[in-house]
Amino acid sequence: MMAEKGGHKHFMHKEIWEQPRAVADTLRGRMLLSEGDVHFEGWNLSAEKVRSLTKITILACGTSWHSGVAGKHMIESLARLPVEVELASEFRYRDPIVDGTHLAIAISQSGETADTLAAFKEAKARGATAMAICNVIGSAMTREADFSVLTNAGPEIGVASTKAFTTQLVALFLLAVKLGRMRGTLSVPAAQEHLTQLTKVPKMIEDVLKCEPAVTRVSREYMDSQDFLFLGRGPMHPVALEGALKLKEISYIHAEGYAGGEMKHGPIALIDEKMPVVVIAPKQPHVAYEKIIGNIEEVRARGGKVIAIIDEDDEHVATLADQVIRIPAACALLAPVVATIPLQLLAYHVADLRGNDVDQPRNLAKSVTVE
Ligand code: G6P
Repeated sequence: MMAEKGGHKHFMHKEIWEQPRAVADTLRGRMLLSEGDVHFEGWNLSAEKVRSLTKITILACGTSWHSGVAGKHMIESLARLPVEVELASEFRYRDPIVDGTHLAIAISQSGETADTLAAFKEAKARGATAMAICNVIGSAMTREADFSVLTNAGPEIGVASTKAFTTQLVALFLLAVKLGRMRGTLSVPAAQEHLTQLTKVPKMIEDVLKCEPAVTRVSREYMDSQDFLFLGRGPMHPVALEGALKLKEISYIHAEGYAGGEMKHGPIALIDEKMPVVVIAPKQPHVAYEKIIGNIEEVRARGGKVIAIIDEDDEHVATLADQVIRIPAACALLAPVVATIPLQLLAYHVADLRGNDVDQPRNLAKSVTVE
């Protein structure tokens, strides 16, 4: 059994550590650096079709929904196309506005989640072009799709999704560059610059994994907490949501992920000296960084404990936080890939220290094929 896990104690730990390889596999053969373009095997959306799109609707559940929220930032920023990120389980039970000028993108590790599949069929029936971003070739969603982007993460066994999430993020970034080029919102040099940033990501993930001893120390300190708050702004908001979800899934600690600006509308009432607040505060983008420092000060003023995820060279936030975890600096749209890794490790170590069954958390299933 240990051999199957490649010497790791749990599949989840193995899968966290596989991420440099998994992300490299998602990128392989797809980045055309000299042309400033992206190649997807079998791409069948004409330039005319892409230019006529008026909206993208992302349909997903759980962790895949979080990657959709990050994807919205990427696509809106690079391709200037409005993106709505829908909870698949809600979308199918209302009367959604969809027409032939829309692109529906189902994001799913398994390609079999019942709610996502049903929502995807609904969007298709209403005339949308259907694209799947999926980890399993031949799954129901890839069969339903007009076109699929495979994430190539390899089999994911741990119920809590890790490498599927980061590979979805880079697949979405590739898609955003491709759509940006086709719609003329990204010049060749701009696309080349984005792709150059992307080539650095596998090495950055390798580097960020070195934070594991620091994360383990933080995990020991807070393993008995009853609640956690995760805060992030802009593209870090979905990272906060994902950090909170990971923790509750496997450690069974109550955790909430919030956009930093919303803290004053509720969660601030919960903050006391027993409340650890994980603040995702890379310097990119600049405005969000300035604002998140404001959040840190608000938490500290109420006695809360701040665990800050910061850029390697950030000495300022280091003086404000109780603990820091340093990560390599990435551009704003790719920082979520890097910033998620310490949060996966935090959830993993807290759950392991509490003696939980990390790979098979209670009440959860890897793939939910019922409504
Ligand atoms: C379940 C899993 C989650 C996953 C979600 C969506 O709840 O436990 O880890 O994010 O389903 O799964 P999908 O396969 O559609 O990405």
